[in-house]
Amino acid sequence: MRALACSGMASGGQAPARTLDPTPPTIGFYPHDVRHLQGTMPTIGVIGTGSMGRMLIRALIAGGAASPEEVIASSRSAAPLLEIARETGITALGSNRAVAGGADVVFLCVRPSDVRGVLEEVGDCLDADTLLVSIASDVPLSLLAGWTGARLVRVIPSITSAALKGVTLVVRGPNADESDMRVLHSLLGAISTPVECGEDEIEVMTALTSCGPAFFAAFLRECAASAVRTGMLSPERAETAVRETFIGTAALLDGGMETFEEIIDAVATPGGITEAGVQMIGEDLPPLFDRLLQTTITRHAEVKARIGRTG
Ligand SMILES: NC(=O)c1ccc[n+]([C@@H]2O[C@H](COP(=O)([O-])OP(=O)(O)OC[C@H]3O[C@@H](n4cnc5c(N)ncnc54)[C@H](OP(=O)(O)O)[C@@H]3O)[C@@H](O)[C@H]2O)c1
Repeated sequence: MRALACSGMASGGQAPARTLDPTPPTIGFYPHDVRHLQGTMPTIGVIGTGSMGRMLIRALIAGGAASPEEVIASSRSAAPLLEIARETGITALGSNRAVAGGADVVFLCVRPSDVRGVLEEVGDCLDADTLLVSIASDVPLSLLAGWTGARLVRVIPSITSAALKGVTLVVRGPNADESDMRVLHSLLGAISTPVECGEDEIEVMTALTSCGPAFFAAFLRECAASAVRTGMLSPERAETAVRETFIGTAALLDGGMETFEEIIDAVATPGGITEAGVQMIGEDLPPLFDRLLQTTITRHAEVKARIGRTG
């Protein structure tokens, strides 16, 4: 763990109080003091233990990127923080400042509208050695850089990291150096395939990688529902058939058949039933997917404008 840098967190200091369960749990909970951790290298900090913060903690540990002793976290509400600390053995701290002052890499996992407030709160704790990783959608580097002087990277995770699969998008900030990127690639590579991208393409990439699991699941749900509407299958049989086939198709992509065309060619005999279906999908789906992507892009623009106005 790096030396504590921020005012109020020096030896014996108290960080600003947070809303915490008055009953300390038996493991991993030290409200305002990280002195006991000195020398044990808890290098990863997570601020905000909502669904993504907790997912990242679990994945980083499961993927072998960090041991529980190397992870410290804080959050606004005590319950989810204490729950993840009990579950994984990480250390829950009583303030964001304690996490920012005690970690080498700080994952900021709060909602976009909360980012500015947290950065102002922890400002003097993020020193030149800290790498700040914001996972907030729609908060561009230009805004982040105006709110903090820390070395910055933007990351868009995907729920697929819960299975140590999928893509994590990485946008390098202007002052992040090669060694920062190596550290980040090593952490994120344990839970996903990290893919660097520019802010000009991040919204389309987000639709594919981070919204993607929900879009694919909605597509699969409609496949099953359509089969049920024929009146010949129960919802359970249809869902099992679709789910297992999707898992099998993903395994093919993972295990040798590298392109979509390869799979289509292997199944769709010229002039056969599958080919007719593939042709219909090619004709009817593009307008839907174009509209879907356009909708996500428009929505991002609205949220970015709001964040830009209000921070
Ligand atoms: N969900 C996704 O699939 C996804 C994908 C990519 C990126 N993201 C980004 O990930 C971020 C988190 O999303 P999420 O779905 O995990 O949201 P979430 O479940 O609402 O989690 C946000 C967490 O931040 C905590 N928080 C709020 N203000 C705080 C403060 N001042 N100090 C410390 N903690 C604070 C919240 O505490 P409370 O429990 O008190 O509310 C909550 O636990 C968002 O910025 C989002 O854009 C999400």
